[in-house]
Amino acid sequence: MTDATSPAPDSHHDGSAVAARAEGRWATFAIAILIFIVVLAAIGGIRHSTMPQYQVETIDPSTLHINGEFVESNLGSAVETDGSVTVRIVAQQYSFTPQCILVPVDTPIVFRATSADAIHGFLIEGTNINTMLIPGYISSLPARFDRPGEHLMPCHEFCGIGHQAMWAMVQVIDKAEFFKTSAGKRRLTCVE
Ligand code: CUA
Repeated sequence: MTDATSPAPDSHHDGSAVAARAEGRWATFAIAILIFIVVLAAIGGIRHSTMPQYQVETIDPSTLHINGEFVESNLGSAVETDGSVTVRIVAQQYSFTPQCILVPVDTPIVFRATSADAIHGFLIEGTNINTMLIPGYISSLPARFDRPGEHLMPCHEFCGIGHQAMWAMVQVIDKAEFFKTSAGKRRLTCVE
C-alpha cells in the first residue's frame, strides 16, 4: 500500500533504474562519438590516398634549367604588378640558386622553390618558413618579414655528402631601397 505522502517502498530501486538508463544513454552517446571519429578518419584517409591533393604543383626536374619558371635567368626576387614579391629558388647538390636572396621588409612575399636532384630542406632561420624541396614538386610558401636583417637558410634535409655545406643567406632590406634597386631589373639577388 502506498500513498502520495509516504515514499514508495521500491523508490531506491527506481533510482538505480533511472541511473542505469542515464548511464546507458551516455554510453551510447560516447560510442556514437567514437564511431563518428573512426568513420571521419577512414573517409579522410581513403580520400587522401585515392585523390590527388589540391594545390600540388609538379614540374619536370630534368628540364628545370632549359625551360619554365625555374630557368636560371628567372631565379631570385621578382616584383609582381600588385607590389608583392615572388622569390624563385632551385636547390641542388650542394647549393641553392641564388646563394643570397634579397627581399624587402613589410611586403607580401611568396617563395617558390624546387629541387633539381635529391630531397633538400628549405628553412629560413628566425622564421616559421620550413618545408622540403622534392624533385618533381614546387614548394610554395607565403612569407612576410617585419624587420630588416640577415637570416641563414640552411638545407636541413640530409641530401648527400655535401649536405652540411649547403646553405644560402636571406637579406631583408628596407622596402624603398629594395624597390629602388629593383627598378629596371628583371630579377634581384644579393649574390656578389
Ligand atoms: Cu641539401 Cu641537405
